[in-house]
Amino acid sequence: MIDRLAGRRGVLAVLGFLGVAGRAAAAIPTPEQTAGPFYPPPNQRPQDTDWDLVKVEGRVREAGGEVMHLSGKVIGRNGAPLAEALVEIWQCDANGRYHHVGDRSSDRPLDEAFQGYGAIRTDAEGRYRFRTIRPVPYPGRTPHIHARVVPPDGRELITQIYLEDHPLNRKDWIFRSLGARAQSAATVDPERREDGDLQARFDFVV
Ligand SMILES: [Fe+2]
Repeated sequence: MIDRLAGRRGVLAVLGFLGVAGRAAAAIPTPEQTAGPFYPPPNQRPQDTDWDLVKVEGRVREAGGEVMHLSGKVIGRNGAPLAEALVEIWQCDANGRYHHVGDRSSDRPLDEAFQGYGAIRTDAEGRYRFRTIRPVPYPGRTPHIHARVVPPDGRELITQIYLEDHPLNRKDWIFRSLGARAQSAATVDPERREDGDLQARFDFVV
């Protein structure tokens, strides 16, 4: 009986493995979404454009907000990792302000300690990482992080990343315009790390 149970467990384990492999093989493409009005053109970017948006080079104080690490991979639709892909993110600061001349919401102070934009290239395994803040809402939008991904072959993906089950998601017309499947492919569910920071994992499927 024990042997039979162990055998069954083994079969279930194999099936589970195949299930995971099957999902990876049929990765849902990350949905294309609008860049919005606040993508910083090269002449409007901060001097510091590295992967750490919470710390601006030369500043003592770090950005306000809750630190969230965002990391994952850039993969093709066949599941293969894409090395040397450019990954850019941009988002508003903890006060809901974009560091962009087009954001005229002067009723909220700009958090000068937030970098607002960061860029990195994926490593040989297609991995990228950012240290940023948990996105916050601003008038008219549910929290989101904008992203642009450009693998070396010239493909381009522009998308937005949302927080799972955020109450404002259902009021956000851009989020709602995605179907349920695309919504799930554009959403993270951050976990609390031992050091108190948040960790969100997101794979870009391009
Ligand atoms: Fe936005």
